[in-house]
Amino acid sequence: MVMVKKILLIAAFLICISAFIGKGTAFAVSAEENYKFYCTQCHGMDGKGDGANSKPKSVGIDLPEMSVTPRNHTSPEDMNKLTDTDIENAISGGGGAVSKSTIMPAFGKTLTEAEIKDLLAHLRKLCKCKGK
Ligand code: HEC
Repeated sequence: MVMVKKILLIAAFLICISAFIGKGTAFAVSAEENYKFYCTQCHGMDGKGDGANSKPKSVGIDLPEMSVTPRNHTSPEDMNKLTDTDIENAISGGGGAVSKSTIMPAFGKTLTEAEIKDLLAHLRKLCKCKGK
């Protein structure tokens, strides 16, 4: 059973990659696609903070459990506490940049400023909130 789940995860990953590469590199990738590619393994497919990496034991990945769970991006209570600048800084500089857990990686060298702004807008859609 664990093996089957591993194979399913690998298959899902390959589908993601092929969808990504299939788009080509000449034009911008949408925030949804960036979110699926870079964020869902921790924050979950629906952004609820329940991605495979957040509970590796139950999906059969040999990683330690996370000491801090990934933010639930669909929670207006949690996401309203963050300003747009907080969110941009968290994405670009990682958890450490906003005095949060460094399990949250920095994407400032991976994503462009425009892509980070698009992701911010995407997160605001997920939480249906504007922030303080
Ligand atoms: C390796 C797992 C991992 C990945 C990948 C990841 N995150 Fe996170 N993220 C976390 C964790 C864990 C936290 C909670 C940090 C805390 O509360 O101390 C977090 C917190 C956040 C926060 C809230 C920060 C705050 O101040 O409360 C935002 C916003 C965020 N992540 C956005 C993203 C986006 C966008 C991506 C994809 C580009 C992403 N994360 C990818 C693990 C991850």
